[in-house]
Amino acid sequence: MEVIIQPTYTQLAEVAAEIIRDALLKKPNLALGLATGSTPIGLYKALVRMHETDGLDFSDVTTFNLDEYVGIPPNHPYSYHTFMATHFFNAVNIPAENCHIPQSTVVGHEEFCEKYEAAIVNTGGIDIQVLGIGKDGHIGFNEPSSSLGSRTRIKTLTQSTLEANAPHFGGTIDAVPKMAITMGVGTIMEAKQCLLLASGTSKAEAIANAVEGPITAEVPASVLQMHPRTVVVIDEAAATQLKRVDYYKHVYANKQKLLSQLS
Ligand code: PGA
Repeated sequence: MEVIIQPTYTQLAEVAAEIIRDALLKKPNLALGLATGSTPIGLYKALVRMHETDGLDFSDVTTFNLDEYVGIPPNHPYSYHTFMATHFFNAVNIPAENCHIPQSTVVGHEEFCEKYEAAIVNTGGIDIQVLGIGKDGHIGFNEPSSSLGSRTRIKTLTQSTLEANAPHFGGTIDAVPKMAITMGVGTIMEAKQCLLLASGTSKAEAIANAVEGPITAEVPASVLQMHPRTVVVIDEAAATQLKRVDYYKHVYANKQKLLSQLS
């Protein structure tokens, strides 16, 4: 795993956006796996700026979102369809037909999940999968105890996730959807590169467990230790419980030096 520690949230978002920009410049028909939540908002903001001011072109990009709540309409103010439209899709030039988000209804969900997986495969696989992390170590809505080989399916959300999402639903847990459709851990692991983002001290324990703890279904993000190309981009606050901070910083600083000597 490559661990990149940045002083602030804004800087971590910028580094993550640069990783995606560089990949997009090399491969205009990039397939991006996208995440919702508060963490990637800065990344989307930076990509929108790169589109508006530098002409970064998304016209050949395909996207697959990790998850969506079950039981609320796509146009609900806190659906992930609405989130993506607001923070990214409405502001860049990805064709609407290239944007895939899991459906929010349960009707025919098994067939839908199979088709979602097939669509990813037909695109040639996800090139970069953006991930946030829950305080309990979840990725997507793969809650602790999710099979590390799981595929796209419906998951029941934990109390901790319901509490974390309650502010988006009028502050009451009762109003938060209790289930979600999510890519599985196995689906995520097939992405060619994973880009895990985290900010703030509330994520420090989850990041330490994911990066330096044992690989366990109790911390689904820990399986990324088995992924050949995972980049973890975090701020100082989210790095406070890592043991090897000095090493990660040394590696990153010298990589930059080496790359600048080569260019
Ligand atoms: P957050 O959520 O970015 O809003 O903290 C991350 C997650 O729960 O996966």
